[in-house]
Amino acid sequence: MAHTDLDQTAKTILIENDQGGYTIPTKGLYPYQWNWDSVFVALGFAEFDQDRAWREIEMLFQGQWRDGMVPHILFRKDDPSYFPGPSVWGTDGGPIPSSGHSQPPVAASIILDLVKSDRTGKGLERAATLLPQLMAWHRWYLIYRDPKGKGVMAVIHPWESGRDNLPDWDEALRAVEVKDIAPYERKDTSHVDPAMRPHKEDYDRYLSIVAACRKVGWDPAKVAETCPFFVADPGITFIFLRANRDLLDLAERLGKAEEAAEIRGWIGLMKAGAETLWNADLKAHVAVDQRSGQMTDGISSASFLAPYAGLRDADTLGALQDHFDRIASKVRYMMPSYDPDHRCFEHLRYWRGPVWAMINYMIARGFAEAGDTARADRLRQDTAALIQTSGFAEYFSPETGAGAGGGSFSWTAAIWLTWASPTHAQQAA
Ligand code: GLC
Repeated sequence: MAHTDLDQTAKTILIENDQGGYTIPTKGLYPYQWNWDSVFVALGFAEFDQDRAWREIEMLFQGQWRDGMVPHILFRKDDPSYFPGPSVWGTDGGPIPSSGHSQPPVAASIILDLVKSDRTGKGLERAATLLPQLMAWHRWYLIYRDPKGKGVMAVIHPWESGRDNLPDWDEALRAVEVKDIAPYERKDTSHVDPAMRPHKEDYDRYLSIVAACRKVGWDPAKVAETCPFFVADPGITFIFLRANRDLLDLAERLGKAEEAAEIRGWIGLMKAGAETLWNADLKAHVAVDQRSGQMTDGISSASFLAPYAGLRDADTLGALQDHFDRIASKVRYMMPSYDPDHRCFEHLRYWRGPVWAMINYMIARGFAEAGDTARADRLRQDTAALIQTSGFAEYFSPETGAGAGGGSFSWTAAIWLTWASPTHAQQAA
């Protein structure tokens, strides 16, 4: 299909997945508003309807909890085709029924992008309205996902990382006792091939973590203290460090000196903290189980987000460039979600190998900002080729390029529109 036709298809996907101000990731598999999906979707809408882009993020923040958290799923209506729904989560923290934890905090970064590209004349004003909500969410992350002030962000559930089925969670998950779960029927495997989804043993543990948090009433301090799963994630840590830098830029544009000073403190803490995720044997940042102290032994696509977070020293960048080239010699399409040389790599099971367009977008941005335009371009070209070959799939095999998971996927469409489409690249050139 010509790329201009794909531009049109991408817009149509966003419009058809629009539920009246918020967008579902895909029909069937994911029938609600997901946190970071919505934020990436805003970038796609911004290409043709900036007002609608802002609306997407504003509707996400309508679900913010009283403690500051912005949940990973907002259940605006009940949909029996999805499991686990609101009754399993049993939360009561905010104005809209929701899941009980968060997702990668990309919002501040994308809000800054919307401000910078604003054509409506209202961008800065809308950002000003969101600023206190962003500050509250970021404070929540710092207090409850880094209670010891180490400068790294933990996830209390694999789903909070947004990279749900990553091998990095395997060991910490195995330590979770299966208990307090009622008999249940999964819905994900009725929408997509079970071979691409997590195993039942994992699912039992996912639900056991939810049950443990429900038991303490989703009180964030108690969750941080008692949750059976608490793993520092390089993905959230790098995305959050970047988001803090972008939040600082926003606060400065808005003349908010106090907030800016507070955010500078967070950035300093996190720059130092990120070093504790460095696995010197692997020469990459990895996950660290905050309960056992155990460091993981695999390179994931999030390891390549260090430059996006602003960590661009020669050692880090050089190590990542070497890993990049090694991985590129193993697979046809970059960037697999897990190292193809690792024993856990599976090219089609989600988050254990496949490529995600929005991760490529963030990695490429960091590499380009670090001056490595060649590898950034490679990521854009591979993302474009995957979509041109296999359409707007949820994710893709790095080996064959086959599309997998859900189809007509919103964030894949959005990333095409904002970055991967040759139309966009030509305009940017
Ligand atoms: C899966 C992904 C998660 C995403 C959700 C909706 O659960 O792992 O990152 O937000 O699907 O697309």
